[in-house]
Amino acid sequence: MVFLLKGIKRFFRLFLGFKKEKPQPISVVLPKAYRVAFITGAARRVGAQIARALHENDYKVLIHCHRSTEEAEQLVRELNAIRPDSASVFYHDLSKVEVFPALMEQAVNCWGKLHLLINNASCFFSTPLEQTTPLLWNNLMAINLKAPFFLSQAAWPYLKREEGNIINIADIHAFSPLRRHAVYSIAKAGLVMATQALAKEMAPFVRVNAVAPGLVLLPEGENALTAEQQLKIIEKNYLKRIGMPLDVAQACLYLANANYVTGQVIEVAGGRRGR
Ligand SMILES: NC(=O)c1ccc[n+]([C@@H]2O[C@H](COP(=O)([O-])OP(=O)(O)OC[C@H]3O[C@@H](n4cnc5c(N)ncnc54)[C@H](OP(=O)(O)O)[C@@H]3O)[C@@H](O)[C@H]2O)c1
Repeated sequence: MVFLLKGIKRFFRLFLGFKKEKPQPISVVLPKAYRVAFITGAARRVGAQIARALHENDYKVLIHCHRSTEEAEQLVRELNAIRPDSASVFYHDLSKVEVFPALMEQAVNCWGKLHLLINNASCFFSTPLEQTTPLLWNNLMAINLKAPFFLSQAAWPYLKREEGNIINIADIHAFSPLRRHAVYSIAKAGLVMATQALAKEMAPFVRVNAVAPGLVLLPEGENALTAEQQLKIIEKNYLKRIGMPLDVAQACLYLANANYVTGQVIEVAGGRRGR
């Protein structure tokens, strides 16, 4: 009886086409969904590390630079060699805010969207009180505060479309001023307030957060620290060491994905109290 039933089934399958449908393997590999990040001052140092970390996490990266054009182009070549069509370079002096809308439009045209803006570029030099001039004030404010604000404004329509986010790179000296660097500290304090204000303005569509690093990479040139100054900084933090650019990049990755976090500042300073 069983043999008879099996035989009838076989007959139907073979001659009448009543074949049982088997799931077929999907032959077309769909392109992976990607996100696009614009990082200012990303040719070298901390900015380049942030760009690399985002790229490793499947972002397409728009590398902004001003003077470090060769380093930026080299980084873009390196990233495109890892994943074709995943990095592009943008040149702009961030003190020229009037053209930010055009710059942002050009950046978005690269891949048609923007998910993340990282305001990392910075200008850092000492301003002893008696030597502080309005020009020095303007220079420090322009790059550390005015540029992130107006770049965020220019990026807002595109970020809103994607429900994206902004990360401002501040400094623990936004909370506790660095001696002989009053204007820089004031500008970074302004950036923390800009973070909180923009988080309110752009809600509920776009999240805005900040990372406030302690020393993660030694300053260069005339800002270089003596061994004694470095030791003093190390003594002030719980972990008894200088951080690394990767520590800042990891905080950025967290914030970029933290969908219920906005208006916050993460201190990445080995426990050194900024507040
Ligand atoms: N390094 C640390 O330990 C530390 C500690 C606390 C906070 N931070 C913050 O972390 C961020 C990155 O630190 P970093 O030490 O890597 O910064 P950085 O080397 O001082 O500056 C980053 C980039 O900013 C760009 N920049 C400066 N002026 C510009 C202008 N007029 N137009 C356009 N871009 C301009 C430069 O780009 P080009 O080279 O292309 O000209 C520079 O490479 C900064 O926001 C900084 O304040 C760093």
